[in-house]
Amino acid sequence: MPTNRSWVLAHRPNGMVQETDFELRESAIPKPEAGEILVRTIYCSLDPAMRGWIVDRPSYVPPVRIGEVMRAGGCGEVVKSNNPGFVPGDLVTGMTGWQEYCLSDGSGLMAMRRLAPGTDLRASMGVFSGAGMSAYFGLLDLGQPKAGETVVVSGAAGAVGSVAGQIAKIKGCRTVGIAGSDEKCAWLVDELGFDAAINYKTENVAVRLHETCPDGIDVYFDNVGGPILDMVLAQIRMKARIVLCGGISAYNAEVPPPGPANLMMLVGMRARMEGFIIIDYIPRFPEAGEEMGRWMAEGRLKARDTIVEGIEKAPRALQMLFEGANTGKLLLQVGAEPAG
Ligand SMILES: NC(=O)c1ccc[n+]([C@@H]2O[C@H](COP(=O)([O-])OP(=O)(O)OC[C@H]3O[C@@H](n4cnc5c(N)ncnc54)[C@H](OP(=O)(O)O)[C@@H]3O)[C@@H](O)[C@H]2O)c1
Repeated sequence: MPTNRSWVLAHRPNGMVQETDFELRESAIPKPEAGEILVRTIYCSLDPAMRGWIVDRPSYVPPVRIGEVMRAGGCGEVVKSNNPGFVPGDLVTGMTGWQEYCLSDGSGLMAMRRLAPGTDLRASMGVFSGAGMSAYFGLLDLGQPKAGETVVVSGAAGAVGSVAGQIAKIKGCRTVGIAGSDEKCAWLVDELGFDAAINYKTENVAVRLHETCPDGIDVYFDNVGGPILDMVLAQIRMKARIVLCGGISAYNAEVPPPGPANLMMLVGMRARMEGFIIIDYIPRFPEAGEEMGRWMAEGRLKARDTIVEGIEKAPRALQMLFEGANTGKLLLQVGAEPAG
């Protein structure tokens, strides 16, 4: 009898998220009721934000409850449908959760959106997912880069950062990436066309920022927060824009670290620092998808992903984000892609 394996939240993490914070359960494959579809999960997205979803505090989404299947974006194939909007074989994307099969009635957090037949599922989970969209709207709407300006991106070899840096190059900016290994830095410069890259684990970031951005920093796309944000603040130019996309350096901290010491640079430099949550941009995803699709077809925007295979590895894969073990988008492959 085929079964459904799923990971539920066992208890709330304390410090670095652990495999033991979750429990792997095996149950019968659920049967769709009237109006529901049964989806076989193919890929799950691993997102740093998931660390925040398992903490019980006010946020933009309710926390995952203890005993609830771990929330995760994903994509899959409809295997049974009692909903007139879907037929078996449809490719769909939505909140599949960490499970091999999920039910959706097409509403709320579990709403599923149909993907065009033949969609590149990995790209749909990377450049064309919330990650790529965050790079696009965060950089262009909030960062407003102009040709000739200097853009610095942290977490630059990750899903969001690698796309944000490439878009900055497309817009004619001098672009400097900050990442956690020499291999990642070489990828940014040699393959993605960044002007320079800084390995924050082995180099003096403040010194290297000064060397690579001699006229100062116009736009900072921040994925990490912490000391790197502070060092960038010290080197911003007049009217700089700082885009707060995320702050992964503190996601596993039990107590939030103190804010940046150089905050007053915003005053002297008449600069702006602004955060965003990508779900506010969902109605505008099609315009971004169209433009990024064109850039990809022209070879100006490149995508990369790191795949971890097997539902049993889900918690371990989540930890990999905090260890920097991914380059580009980190995905969990839960099931096979449809043949053909
Ligand atoms: N605002 C929004 O709506 C929105 C939407 C999506 C994502 N985000 C945010 O965007 C950021 C990137 O997300 P992503 O999905 O693209 O993840 P990602 O960058 O693909 O993966 C996370 C990367 O963060 C780096 N990292 C881990 N711990 C770090 C630390 N202590 N200091 C500095 N870097 C560290 C690692 O790379 P290294 O090897 O370079 O350390 C790791 O590969 C996250 O902060 C996420 O929360 C925000």
